[in-house]
Amino acid sequence: MDIHAPFLHRCLALAEQGRGKTGINPLVGAVLVRRGKIIAEAFHEGYGRLHAERALLTQCTAPLEPEDVLYVNLEPCSHRGKTPPCTDILIERGVKYVVYGLKDPNPQVAGKGIAALERAGITVTGPVERARSAWLNRGFTTLQEKGRPWITLKRAQTKTGLTAAPDGSRLTITSKEQDTWSHAHLRAKHDAILVGVGTILADDPQLSTRFIQNTNTEVDQHSPLRIVLDPKLRIKEDARVLSKELAQGTVVISGSGLGSGLAKKGRIEALGTRVWECPLDGELFAWKALWELLTTPKGDFFGITSILVEGGAKTWEAFEDAGMVDEEMVLVG
Ligand SMILES: NC(=O)c1ccc[n+]([C@@H]2O[C@H](COP(=O)([O-])OP(=O)(O)OC[C@H]3O[C@@H](n4cnc5c(N)ncnc54)[C@H](OP(=O)(O)O)[C@@H]3O)[C@@H](O)[C@H]2O)c1
Repeated sequence: MDIHAPFLHRCLALAEQGRGKTGINPLVGAVLVRRGKIIAEAFHEGYGRLHAERALLTQCTAPLEPEDVLYVNLEPCSHRGKTPPCTDILIERGVKYVVYGLKDPNPQVAGKGIAALERAGITVTGPVERARSAWLNRGFTTLQEKGRPWITLKRAQTKTGLTAAPDGSRLTITSKEQDTWSHAHLRAKHDAILVGVGTILADDPQLSTRFIQNTNTEVDQHSPLRIVLDPKLRIKEDARVLSKELAQGTVVISGSGLGSGLAKKGRIEALGTRVWECPLDGELFAWKALWELLTTPKGDFFGITSILVEGGAKTWEAFEDAGMVDEEMVLVG
């Protein structure tokens, strides 16, 4: 195995700990290696917080040695955002070697961080472990390249291909074991879980990761955001996603100009749920406006870069017809 791989893998594992908290920012982990051993590590812990490299060098106050190597899964940034450029602190602290996993996917900044480091006499190696690094940040990359989040479609179907009962009644397809797997490997790996209002009315799902949580708090703080596409605000006010435990983590996207629905909107917002109005293009939300709503940070919402679309049929179809599917998972029960 490449001598760099184990250190890059550690960066990726650290970066993963930021999932769901970094908003539209990338997942980034960094480690500092001295004579083959990791002596400091850090990751980007949340939107608006220090970038991984800066967090690492802030926490590691001892002088660096010339052979120390800094590993990071994404090219260090060279532009000023909410925090100063990471390239500055690497140069200031005398880092001499940097190994990175993925070039910044934003064409406006790609390569500029590397160039700034090289200009300062730093030896830069990369990309190493590029495929794994790209996969970890598929949400961030998709947002940079396509202006929308990464989209995974998930459906459960019977061996005969049914996804819903013909009479609209609730149909249990998957086993508890499959549901636990999809909480851990699908729901928890996306920033948001999305359904159409038809599914809320038919099944009243919770859309949480409760099968893998070992905390039992009054308010669920661990599940991804829940998004309900509901142009006419047909959701029932006693829906489980609007319960005390789940309301704050739910976003209902309604059409604009609700008219007589405005009072209902106010009551739902009073539960702690965000109700955002989005213009329609025919019967469907205008995609550009929808993506702008979901990827623009405002207040304590930091934006999302990945969505698990759980259905039902009309919702899957809208995403498929628009060519907005990056990955598809089918669970057969
Ligand atoms: N097997 C599975 O994996 C699975 C998963 C989920 C659900 N289901 C089943 O699917 C059935 C429900 O499916 P369904 O097709 O009737 O309903 P649905 O897809 O859950 O919801 C459809 C409705 O959501 C709104 N909507 C969806 N996409 C939209 C978009 N892009 N823009 C604007 N509005 C949008 C529209 O509301 P309006 O009608 O108000 O305009 C639309 O009619 C249930 O029986 C449920 O059990 C199965």
